[in-house]
Order: sequence, then C-alpha cells, then structure tokens
Amino acid sequence: MSSTRHNSNSIGLFCGLLAMFACNAVAVEYYTEKPSFLPSCRIYEPGFTKCSTNTIQKLVDQLQVGIPEIIEKYGPWDPMHIRDIIFKQDNVEVATIRANLTEVVVTGFSQIKIKESRVSKKDFSWQTKIFLPKMRLDAKYKMEGRILLIPLSGAGNIFIEIENVDILMYTKTQLYEKGGFTFDNVTDVQVRLNMSRVRTQLDNLFNGRSKEVERSTNQFFNDNWRDFYEALKPLIVDTVENILKDIMGAVFHLIPANFFVEDIPTPQQLYGKTA
Ligand SMILES: *[C@@H]1O[C@H](CO)[C@@H](O)[C@H](O)[C@H]1NC(C)=O
Ligand SMILES: *[C@@H]1O[C@H](CO)[C@@H](O)[C@H](O)[C@H]1NC(C)=O
Ligand SMILES: *[C@@H]1O[C@H](CO)[C@@H](O)[C@H](O)[C@H]1NC(C)=O
Repeated sequence: MSSTRHNSNSIGLFCGLLAMFACNAVAVEYYTEKPSFLPSCRIYEPGFTKCSTNTIQKLVDQLQVGIPEIIEKYGPWDPMHIRDIIFKQDNVEVATIRANLTEVVVTGFSQIKIKESRVSKKDFSWQTKIFLPKMRLDAKYKMEGRILLIPLSGAGNIFIEIENVDILMYTKTQLYEKGGFTFDNVTDVQVRLNMSRVRTQLDNLFNGRSKEVERSTNQFFNDNWRDFYEALKPLIVDTVENILKDIMGAVFHLIPANFFVEDIPTPQQLYGKTA
C-alpha cells in the first residue's frame, strides 16, 4: 500500500492570478538564512533535548501557519489532502481485505504537541515523542474481504477517528552537504502508535442491502475498536509514516540542519572522507 500527498497547484494558480515577480520570490530550493520562527540548539551543550523539543514544536507550528515551499508541494498541513491509499492484507487472522481509499483527507495535525525530540550524536537519527488529541481520516472507500470474521463488501464514505494518539517516531537520516550547509536526508520513518479510542463509520456497507446490518456492523466495530484497530493497523501506521516521511523529507531538504543544530558536524566529519 502507499499514500502520499497530492501535488497542489493552488499556489501556482494563486500566483498566476497575481504578479509573476512577486511569486518567484516565494519558493526557493533551500534556505540560506535561518528563518526567524526557528530557535536553534547546540547538541554538544547541556539541555539539548529540551531545546530541540521546543525547536521541533516551533517547526510544526510553522507548518500550520504555512511554509510556502511545503504548501506548494503538499498543500495545507491541516486538513491535509493525501493521495489514494490502496490497501491489501491477505491471510491475516483478523482481516483479509482489499480496500481502496480515494479523496483522502486527514485532519488533526495542527494540534500536534512535540513531547520530546532526541537526536543521536552517533548517527544523527531522531527519536520523537508526539501527542495528537485527535486524528481523523475521511475518504471514499471501496472494500472487499472480511474484518473480524465479518464478510464485507461495499463502497461509500468512510471515516476513522483516533483519539489521544501517542506517536513514537524513529527517523533515520543521512547527512549531506549543499551550498556549504549540512542537510538531513530523511531515509526512513517508523512509528509506534497508542491511542485511547478508535471510532469508525463505513456508509453503504454491503452495498446498501441492509441498513440494519450496516448499523449493527459499525456498532460492532466501535464496541470492539481495539480488535478493529489491530485489523486496520498496517493501513493506519503506513498512512502516518508516509505523511511524516514526505513532509519531513521536504522540510529537511529545504532547511539546513545547521539551523536546527548549530554545531552539527559536516558529512565529511561524521562519515569520513570516503563516504
Ligand atoms: C483497488 O484498485 C486496484 C488498482 O486500481 C484494483 O485493481 C482493485 O480491484 C481495486 N480494489 C477494490 C476493492 O476496488
Ligand atoms: C504504548 O503503550 C505501551 C504500554 O503501556 C508502552 O510500553 C509504549 O511505550 C507505548 N508507546 C507509545 C508510542 O506511546
Ligand atoms: C537521499 O537518500 C535517498 C535514498 O537513500 C537517495 O536516493 C538520495 O539520492 C538521497 N538524497 C540526497 C540529496 O543525498
């Protein structure tokens, strides 16, 4: 399965309607001056993790305000439109389903709280603790298969709403040099999720043949949300990982790592000359 953001043409359209020269100034390949919203930290000085936690929170707050280069690529941060999700899970006890989600919109990222941002001095990988009061996915679905022994086939609207989400994110990066700055190349993102509740609604289950069975099936999924979540976990985890990897990838190709961690080594210093 895969999911990535739509390219948004809204900025281009907006620019087209305004003067061209004004918009050429908006998007740059990468920043050569530290943006004022970003407080930087020093990893070889005490209190780095506390400082870094605040810096990453400021970055996330700015994503909500809007970073033009990121909006141009992915559209707004919240609600966020993401690419279609094709989900296929076979031969698993809890679910055998094929589901396609289109017109996918994810809401809730504006409320992100960064609880802790650790950076490894060894390889400059990150470990980030994030809290989200609510995350909601709305989409059109088409589905065949079974979840928790219930045979399902249908097409219509779906929402999945997750409350009090704790995210533990492991990010691998590779340092590279561009224009005399050190940058992070985000090469891998993995998340672990905990939540207090999952709510869901699938309209038009069984292709609308029985509203009563549709209602009781949705009720069953909500009453047994932990099992329902286990069944859909790969879909939810992959979706979150893909969103974070895309956005962080774009942000860290745009903003030099030096603006986050002033005393970050150069790639040559970290990997040696042959790297
Ligand atoms: C989902 O989309 C794929 C590729 O477009 C298609 O092959 C598959 O049949 C679709 N699955 C469902 C359940 O509609
Ligand atoms: C989820 O909860 C378990 C058990 O309480 C805990 O060990 C784990 O660290 C938590 N993970 C996250 C991402 O909060
Ligand atoms: C980032 O990593 C990917 C995958 O390892 C690689 O293909 C790409 O060339 C790297 N980009 C830069 C700028 O180093």
